[in-house]
Amino acid sequence: MKSTVVVYQSKSGFTEKYARWIAEDAQANLLEAGGAKLEDLARYDTIVYGGGLYIGGINGVKLITGHMKELENKKLIVFGVGASPCRPNVVEEVRKANFTDEIKGKIHFFLLRGGFDLSKCGLKDKMLMNMLKIKLGKAPDTDEDAKGMLACYEHPADFTSRDAIKPILDCIKNVE
Ligand SMILES: Cc1cc2nc3c(=O)[nH]c(=O)nc-3n(C[C@H](O)[C@H](O)[C@H](O)COP(=O)(O)O)c2cc1C
Repeated sequence: MKSTVVVYQSKSGFTEKYARWIAEDAQANLLEAGGAKLEDLARYDTIVYGGGLYIGGINGVKLITGHMKELENKKLIVFGVGASPCRPNVVEEVRKANFTDEIKGKIHFFLLRGGFDLSKCGLKDKMLMNMLKIKLGKAPDTDEDAKGMLACYEHPADFTSRDAIKPILDCIKNVE
């Protein structure tokens, strides 16, 4: 049987929750990215990487995108976890911002909806969110997603759903 590892980096626990579900259902090993070395990943046939979205960037994704040569011949799956709804245009924006055209063709990418909990954010992220709140509050054309983000600022929100991991589980199972 092909071996699979799920590696994740999570600031407030949403990506970790998805990573644990995926590892459980795919009977894969689970690793926190902070403690994972490239050699640890290279032992597996399939590597699933998950990171939260921070200003459009997938937290820690360089562990994969920065080592494409070393990881060639592996099946690479990356999932980002953000607070916004995962509309097709958002998925495309995140893909474009995080992967070069060459890498896009070598990685299976998924976007999952996590949540938001200001109390679990570090000082730097709290300050960034404060700036965003002020900026959005002043913008006359604030869209629904931004309004949703502002609402989460006041009350923590959790949009995680175990059903959302199905396409990732199918991708792990599919032989290429
Ligand atoms: C400073 C900051 C920037 C963020 N930027 C985005 C973003 O660009 N898009 C998005 O959908 N969510 C954004 N979020 C929300 C996080 O992606 C969301 O809370 C996610 O579930 C965090 O996952 P984690 O707890 O596993 O790190 C941001 C949150 C913070 C604190």
